[in-house]
Amino acid sequence: MGKRELFARSLDAHLSGPLRAVVVELGSGSRPFYRPDHTYICVDSRRSDSPNLLIASAENLPLRSSIADVVVGFQVLCSVRDVASTITEIRRVTKPGGVYLGVEHVRNPNPLLRVVQRFRTHFRGTRGRCRLGLDVPTLLLEAGFDVHVQRFPRAFSPYVQFTADPCERAHEPT
Ligand SMILES: C[S@@+](CC[C@H](N)C(=O)[O-])C[C@H]1O[C@@H](n2cnc3c(N)ncnc32)[C@H](O)[C@@H]1O
Repeated sequence: MGKRELFARSLDAHLSGPLRAVVVELGSGSRPFYRPDHTYICVDSRRSDSPNLLIASAENLPLRSSIADVVVGFQVLCSVRDVASTITEIRRVTKPGGVYLGVEHVRNPNPLLRVVQRFRTHFRGTRGRCRLGLDVPTLLLEAGFDVHVQRFPRAFSPYVQFTADPCERAHEPT
């Protein structure tokens, strides 16, 4: 089973409750994780045939705060112009008790496996303007999410799959 199918299963598991959830997908491109049985909104800076598409920037989401039960992003943080602002926006629109589900390709934390990644990237290239050097779990932790990594990068697959919950402690006064 490919990473996309695994991710779709993880999303389905989060939507298996009886209620109609609000699902916000960022950077859906032409392959949205559309769930017609829920309220689905996608945001992408480029036009596509995705249903309920808002053409906007992930760094400045045209959505009210705490609207989303689930925010989904599949290989998006590696493409946005400003990762920190995008993560701040994801946190803003996610309801307390909601969740951000993502798959991102990242730099492998193991130096030896990183060499393999570089070798592979050199010969295969990366699509578009993807950045491979992001440490997404750490960026999310710093932004006040609790992060649960479900799938770590491997030698030939630089993908991290994670679930991130906005934790309350980031709102507590210091
Ligand atoms: C690598 S593609 C992934 C597309 C889709 N999620 C998939 O897996 O096939 C990245 C997507 O993010 C969108 N994107 C890039 N920068 C963006 C931004 N700043 N705001 C919103 N969407 C953006 C692109 O238009 C593209 O659709």
